[in-house]
Amino acid sequence: MSAKPFIILLADALVCQHLNYCNIAILTDSVEQYRGLDAELYDSDYATYDPSDIAFYVEEATNCGSTVLELGCGTGRITIPIANAGIDIVGVEISPDMLEIARAKVAEMPSVVADRITLAQGDMCDFDLGRTFDLVLIPFRVFICLMTVEEQKQALRNIHRHMNDGAKLIINFFDPDLREILDHNERMRSNQILMNQFRHPSTGNPVKEWSTWDYDLTEQTIEEVRNYVEQDFQGNILKSTTVKLRVRYIFRWEMYHLLELCGFRVETLYGDFDRSPFKARAEQIWVAVK
Ligand SMILES: C[S@@+](CC[C@H](N)C(=O)[O-])C[C@H]1O[C@@H](n2cnc3c(N)ncnc32)[C@H](O)[C@@H]1O
Repeated sequence: MSAKPFIILLADALVCQHLNYCNIAILTDSVEQYRGLDAELYDSDYATYDPSDIAFYVEEATNCGSTVLELGCGTGRITIPIANAGIDIVGVEISPDMLEIARAKVAEMPSVVADRITLAQGDMCDFDLGRTFDLVLIPFRVFICLMTVEEQKQALRNIHRHMNDGAKLIINFFDPDLREILDHNERMRSNQILMNQFRHPSTGNPVKEWSTWDYDLTEQTIEEVRNYVEQDFQGNILKSTTVKLRVRYIFRWEMYHLLELCGFRVETLYGDFDRSPFKARAEQIWVAVK
């Protein structure tokens, strides 16, 4: 199995009413990305994001009409709407914690919908389902969790083996913006930025998400140190937990060549989920054919 992007979970670093964010006592415990608190808060955190990708994937799945494979299905944010639309779907996910949340959500669904969903723990670089598909989805930045070219090639070649001739692969991640990268690198390395505010899914308490970002221009990586601060309604800090996330951003023509190298023909590159053409600094939504 390939090396995984790392996350260092700095669990329950401090419980303190007068927390100085820059001086958190850090308890390090190396675990993989999207585990623990990151999984627990994922749905609440991303509920505030634009959900327009969901309708796009549901439309693609409906047009395909046969069982769909989704890689990095997470908590089922896209898996469940596809099943709701009447399509059978297999979701593969590396994080047991994300998968557990997806499974709990599926267990709440009417059996006619739940029966359309198969979930499996696996790494997109080396999973083996022993079958092929007409449509494979890698939504929302899953592919940029792969940190090396070797992993990217392993994943694409493995996916290729799971596809019928003429089948479609759709991959989405953001288009890196060099100006923003340079600006962020200077400005955001040391200053925490308030990225989001939402309610804790279990306690209902307000949670603030603070982040610092470090861009490595040589390695093409972004390291985000994310600090979740849970407060009571008087504003007292109850809990502060820090997680570290890394992605490897990919430029347009780099991805084009990677797909072609791994046996795909690029059909389209959209710039948004309304199917408008690609333009720099928006989304990269690749549609490639085996
Ligand atoms: C940003 S989340 C996206 C989750 C879901 N696709 C969505 O749209 O909400 C990225 C997901 O990719 C998963 N992931 C990362 N690397 C993976 C790999 N090598 N194989 C399978 N899943 C992976 C993570 O565990 C996480 O659940």
